[in-house]
Amino acid sequence: MSRPYYIAGNWKMHKTRAEAAELVKELSARLKDGKHRYLVAPGFTLLETVAALVRDSNIRLGAQNMAAEEQGAHTGEVSVLQLKDIGVRTVILGHSERRHVYREDDALINRKVRLALRHGLEVILCVGELLEEREAGRAEAVCETQTVRGLEGVSAAELPNIVIAYEPVWAIGTGKTATPEDADAIHAWIRKVIGRLYGAAAAENIIIQYGGSVKAENAAQLMAKENIDGALVGGAALKADTFVPIAMFA
Ligand code: PGA
Repeated sequence: MSRPYYIAGNWKMHKTRAEAAELVKELSARLKDGKHRYLVAPGFTLLETVAALVRDSNIRLGAQNMAAEEQGAHTGEVSVLQLKDIGVRTVILGHSERRHVYREDDALINRKVRLALRHGLEVILCVGELLEEREAGRAEAVCETQTVRGLEGVSAAELPNIVIAYEPVWAIGTGKTATPEDADAIHAWIRKVIGRLYGAAAAENIIIQYGGSVKAENAAQLMAKENIDGALVGGAALKADTFVPIAMFA
C-alpha cells in the first residue's frame, strides 16, 4: 500500500506560547526519526512561535480553522493569506466543534475548502456522525453527505491536497473510541464515495485519518486496518508523552 501514515495533533484552545514552544521542541526532538507524516495544529496566537520551531523538522504546521473569505470586514476571523504568511501549510476544516458548537454548515465549510485549495494549502476535512445518527443507522449517509458537500467544486487535480478525517462525534473527547472494525467500515465507505466522485486511483491514494479518543493503547490496532491511514488526535496531542507513542506506533 502506497499511502503514508499521517498523524496530526489538534491542540484546540489549549496552551500559551511558552507551553507550545516547550511541547513542540520536545516533539521535534523525539519524532525526528519517525517514519510517518506529522502535523501539529496550535491555536492562532501560537502559530508564529511554533512555525519558527518546526521549520527544520519533519512536523508540518496546521491551523484549526480559517475564514471563508480571502480578506475584508470580518471581525474576529483569520484569513488564508494571514495563515500562509506565517508558514501554515495545512488547515483543519469542518471539525465537529466547528459544525456543532459554532454551527458551520456544509456550504460554509465547502467555501473554506475551495479557498484553502486555491491558495495551495492542504486541507484536513473532518466528517463524522452524531450518536443519534449512528443509532439510527445513518452513520454512512451522514459521512457521505459531508464528504460530497465538503468537496463540491474540488477538482481531481486538487484532490491530492485533501485529507479526510473521520471523527465520530460521540468519540471525540469522551474516551469512547470506535472499534477498529467500525471505524474501518466507515473509512471504506468514504473511500468508495471518493472513488465514485474521482475514480479508483484517487480513492486508493486519499489519506483518511481516524479521530476520536485516539491514544497509545488503541493507535496500533486502529492503524492496522486497511483503510485507516493515520489519526487526528486531540487530548492526547497535548503532551509529548502521550502523542509520541501514537506518532511512533509500531
Ligand atoms: P480527542 O479529539 O482525541 O480528544 O477525542 C479528537 C479531535 O477532536 O480531533
